[in-house]
Parts: sequence; structure tokens; C-alpha cells
Amino acid sequence: MIRLVYISTARTVLSTAALGEILRVSRANNAASDVTGFLVAGGRRFLQALEGPSVAVDTTFDRILRDPRHFATVVLSRDTVGDRQFGQWSMGHQPSSAGGNVTSALVNLIDQIPDATVRAQFEQFALQHAC
Ligand SMILES: Cc1cc2nc3c(=O)[nH]c(=O)nc-3n(C[C@H](O)[C@H](O)[C@H](O)COP(=O)(O)O)c2cc1C
Repeated sequence: MIRLVYISTARTVLSTAALGEILRVSRANNAASDVTGFLVAGGRRFLQALEGPSVAVDTTFDRILRDPRHFATVVLSRDTVGDRQFGQWSMGHQPSSAGGNVTSALVNLIDQIPDATVRAQFEQFALQHAC
């Protein structure tokens, strides 16, 4: 099993509906291919973790890379792992900010990520890209 974490930039700020559509398709595809993960959107930036069998994660990420809705993808980590950090979500999501602050719901959720490195990746992103 692997976990891949990347950041990218949306071409334009996505509406709630457009983001909802990405999540709908993601959840259906990921559930079918044993991929779990979490997507945070802050302004035009995305941070996403994908975890599951390596072929499934790489195949999913290949599709994501070709998606014209975002660009400037940078892989932060791609590690072989024993445990899932987001096992309960085919693709979890929590609105990242409200009125200039990272939402307490997202902070609580990030606090519960067991792996310190993954938690730090999400904490740093939430602080930098809350808007
Ligand atoms: C930021 C972002 C995250 C995405 N995450 C996923 C995902 O986790 N799983 C997935 O199947 N598609 C995800 N997508 C959508 C894919 O890029 C793609 O549109 C979708 O998988 C359908 O691919 P297809 O049109 O080749 O069938 C994401 C797109 C964006 C912009």
C-alpha cells in the first residue's frame, strides 16, 4: 500500500458546486478501487492525500494529473505505508476556511491524523492557504 500527497493550483477558484462534483466523482471511483484519502481546498490551492494499493493510487493520480481544472502539481511524498490515515473516507473533505480563519472542524480533523508527517503536511497547508 502507498500514500501519495500532492499540492496543486486550480485554474480558477472553483465554486462549491464544482468542488462538490469533483468529490462526487472521486468518491465513486475511489470506493470502486480501494482508494481512500482527503482533499483540502484553500483558495486556489489543493492538498490531497491518496492511499491504497500502489497500482490503484498511481492510476488515480495519472487521471488527476491530466485534469485541466488544476495545474502545477507537486508531489510532496509518495511512501509505502502499512496503515491508512484516512481509511474512513473514499475522499474526505472539510471546508478549509471561514472568515479568514481555518475552520475549527478542519483543525480538529487534522489533529486526529495519527502520522506526524502527514499531520504536519496538512497543518502547514491549512495555515498557509486559509483565505
Ligand atoms: C483536485 C482534484 C482532485 C481529484 N481527486 C480525484 C480522486 O481522488 N479520485 C478520482 O477518481 N478523481 C479525482 N479527480 C477527478 C479526476 O481528475 C478525473 O476528472 C476523474 O477521475 C474522471 O476521470 P475520467 O474523466 O478520465 O474518467 C480529482 C480532480 C481534481 C481537480
